[in-house]
Amino acid sequence: MMEQTIVYQVGYLSGFYEGILRFQSLAYLLAAVLFVLALAGLSKQKTARRGNILGVIGMACALVATIVVTVFWTEQAAATTVGLMVGAIAIGAAIGVWRAVKVKMTGMPELVAMLHSFVGAAAVLVGFNSFLAEPGAPGAENAFHMGEVGLAVFIGAVTLTGSVVAYLKLAAKISGRPLMLPGRNAINAVMVLACLILIGCLVTSRGVEGGLVPLIILTVISLVLGVHLVLAIGGGDMPVVVSMLNSYSGWAAAMAGFTLGNDLLIITGALVGSSGAYLSYIMCQGMNRSFISVILGGFGAEAPKAASGSGEAAVMGDYTEVTPEDVAEALKNSKRVIITPGYGMAVAQAQFPVAELTRRLQDAGVDVAFAVHPVAGRMPGHMNVLLAEAKVPYDSVLDMDDVNDDFADVDTVLVIGANDTVNPSAETEPDSPIAGMPVLRVWDANHVIVFKRSMGNAGYAGVQNPLFFNENTDMLLGDAKQSVDAIVAAL
Ligand code: TAP
Repeated sequence: MMEQTIVYQVGYLSGFYEGILRFQSLAYLLAAVLFVLALAGLSKQKTARRGNILGVIGMACALVATIVVTVFWTEQAAATTVGLMVGAIAIGAAIGVWRAVKVKMTGMPELVAMLHSFVGAAAVLVGFNSFLAEPGAPGAENAFHMGEVGLAVFIGAVTLTGSVVAYLKLAAKISGRPLMLPGRNAINAVMVLACLILIGCLVTSRGVEGGLVPLIILTVISLVLGVHLVLAIGGGDMPVVVSMLNSYSGWAAAMAGFTLGNDLLIITGALVGSSGAYLSYIMCQGMNRSFISVILGGFGAEAPKAASGSGEAAVMGDYTEVTPEDVAEALKNSKRVIITPGYGMAVAQAQFPVAELTRRLQDAGVDVAFAVHPVAGRMPGHMNVLLAEAKVPYDSVLDMDDVNDDFADVDTVLVIGANDTVNPSAETEPDSPIAGMPVLRVWDANHVIVFKRSMGNAGYAGVQNPLFFNENTDMLLGDAKQSVDAIVAAL
C-alpha cells in the first residue's frame, strides 16, 4: 500500500514537473515569436507602436514563465526564492524608472550606452557564476560548457567597458577625439589572440584551481580591449559605436543563454545581436564609414585633422541675419518648402511649433516636406520620433536619399537646428572630420534659412559650416522654438 502511494506520488510529481517544463517551453516559444514580430513592427514608423506592444507582451510572457519555473524548481524554500527575485526586480525597476523619468530626450544615447554596459556586466557575472557552480571535470560536455563560459565573459567584458567609455564620450565627460596609439591594430590583434588562447586554456582546464587563473586574466584583457576599441573611435562615429555595442550586448546575452541553458535568452540575444549589427551597417552606409573599420575599433582609419566634439567655430565671412517676419514672408511666397531638422530642434523642443507651422503652410496650399538625415540628432531615428510625437504625418517625412536630388526645385529650405548633416565641406574638404559623410544638399535650393543660436557654435563634429556664409543663405539666430513660434505668429 505504502509503495503504491510512493509510486503514485512520484508519478504525480514527475507529471507535474513535466507540465511545468511544457508550460515553460510554450511560453518561451510564444515570447520568441512575439519578439520577432516586435522587430518586424519596429522597422516601420506606422507599425512601431504595435511592435513595441508586442515586445512588451513577449517580455511579460518570458518573465512570468521564468518566475514560475524558478519557484517550482528551486532547491531552497520557495518564499526565499520569491523574496530574492522580487528584491532584484524591485531594485532594477526602481533604478530603471528613476533614470528613464529623469533622462532628457537629448540624453538618450548616453542612457542606452550605459544600459548596454549592464548587459555586459550581467554576462560576465553569469559566466563566473556558471564556472564556479560547475567547475571543469573531464569530458567533452564540460569542455563545451567552459567554452561557453569563456565566450560569455569575453564578449560581456568587452561590452561592459566599451559601453562605459561610449557613455563617457557621449556625455562629454572625456574627449571625443579618437585615441590613435601607435600600432593600435596590432595591440587589438594581440589582445584578441591572448583571449582566444585563454579560452582554450579554460576549455582544457580541470576544476576551479585549473580554470580560475585563465578566467581572471581573460576578464582583465577583455575589459582593457573594450576600453581601447571604443577610445580609438572618433566622436563623429559614436552613433555607430552605440548600435555596435547594442549588437555586442545581444551576443553577450546569447552567450549567457548558453551558459544558463536558457533557449529564450539565446534567441533574444541573437535577435538583438543581429539587428544591432544590421543597424550599425546601415548607419555606416549613411555616414560613408567602413563597417569593418568601426567594429574593429577604427581599424585602418586615420586621425581627423580637425577637432572632433562640439566646440567653437570661427566665423568664415559675411552672413545675412533675418527676422521671423522676413521668414514668414518668404514662406508665404514659396510653393515648395523642405524642413531639415537636426539636433537643435530636439534641444529646443521645437517639434510642436514646427508641426503647427507645417499645418499652417499646408492649409495655405504650400507643399511642405521634411528631409531627415540618417544621423541627424543624437540617436538613430531621433528626428522621426520627435516628428511623430508632434503628429507630423509619416508621408511628409522623407529619407535623405529620396529627396537629395530634388533641392534644386525647392523654393525655401528651413534648416532647423541642423549643422553637420547639411555641411557642404563633407563633400569638398577631404581633411574635414565629416569628409565623405553624405549630407543633405540644401544649398541647391533657391533660398536657405538656418535656425541656430549663435554663429560661434559648431555642430557635433566641431567644424564651421560654409553653408551659413552662402549668398542664398539667411541666418535666423535664436532659440529654435521661440523663432518658430514667432514665425507662426507672424503668419
Ligand atoms: P549638429 O551638427 O549637432 O548641430 C546642432 C545645431 O543645432 C547647431 O548648429 C546648434 O547651433 C543648433 N542648436 C542647438 N541648440 C539649439 C537651439 N536651442 N535652438 C536653435 N538651434 C540650436 O546637428 P545635426 O545636423 O543633427 O548632426 C548630428 C551630428 O551628431 C552628426 O555629426 C552625427 O554624426 C552626430 N551624432 C549622431 C548620432 C545619431 S545616431 N543621430 C549620435 C551621436 C552623434 P547653436 O549651438 O549655435 O544653437
